[in-house]
Amino acid sequence: MTQDQLKQAVGRAAIAHLVEGEIVGVGTGSTANCFIDELAARKDRFPGAVASSEATRRRLEGHGITVYDLDEVDRIPVYVDGADEINAAMQMIKGGGGALTREKIVAAVAGKFICIADAAKLVPVLGRFPLPVEVVPMALGHVRRELAAIGGSPVLREGFVTDNGNLIIDVGGLEILDPAGLETRINQIVGVVTNGLFARRPADVCLLGTAAGVLTLTAG
Ligand code: 5RP
Repeated sequence: MTQDQLKQAVGRAAIAHLVEGEIVGVGTGSTANCFIDELAARKDRFPGAVASSEATRRRLEGHGITVYDLDEVDRIPVYVDGADEINAAMQMIKGGGGALTREKIVAAVAGKFICIADAAKLVPVLGRFPLPVEVVPMALGHVRRELAAIGGSPVLREGFVTDNGNLIIDVGGLEILDPAGLETRINQIVGVVTNGLFARRPADVCLLGTAAGVLTLTAG
C-alpha cells in the first residue's frame, strides 16, 4: 500500500469513532484531508465541524460542511487530526503544517483526540522530526537564542506566516526523552505562543495505517 492509501484507510477508520449528531473537531494536513473527504460523504449525520486552520475550514466548506467558530459550540466530543510523530504513550509532535496552536486549542476542548497516522509516524523517541514552535514576530531573536540554549538547532520557517499572524521556528537535533517537561519548558519562553509537543494532552487513540491494516493503539 502507498502512504496515500494508508492515509485514506485511517481517514475512513476514524469515522467509526465519531458521535453522530455532535460537532466534529477537524485537524489539518494531508491525513486530516483524507478524513474530511470521508466525513463529507456522511455530512448529514453531523451538524458541522470546528476547524483547526483556515485551510481545513476552506476544505470543509468546499464539501458543504458547516464550520462553526470554537466559541459557538458547547462541546466537541471527538477531535480527529494527524501527527508528524507519535510515540507509544500517544504523545506527538505536530505542526508540520504550521497549525499547531489552533490544533492544540481544539484538542484541549475535545473530549477525545483520535490521531490518524501512517505507520512511518510511530517512533520510539520523539525528535527526529524538527519540533515546530510558533513565535510572536518581535520575539524571534530572543526565542531562537533560548531554543539554542536548550540544545536544539532552531531554523526559521522561511516565507511562512501562521493563521494567527506569527512565525514558526523548527527545532532540529532534539532527542526528546521527557516530552511533557520539554513542552512546558518551551512554552515558558517569553514570545512563544505554543510548541508542537502534544504531551500534556496526548491522543486518546491512534489509528495507525499499516500494510496489515489499520491498528488501534492506546497508551498503556
Ligand atoms: C499540521 C499538523 C499535521 O497534523 C501534521 O503535520 C501531519 O500532517 P500530514 O498528515 O500531512 O503528514 O500538525 O499542523
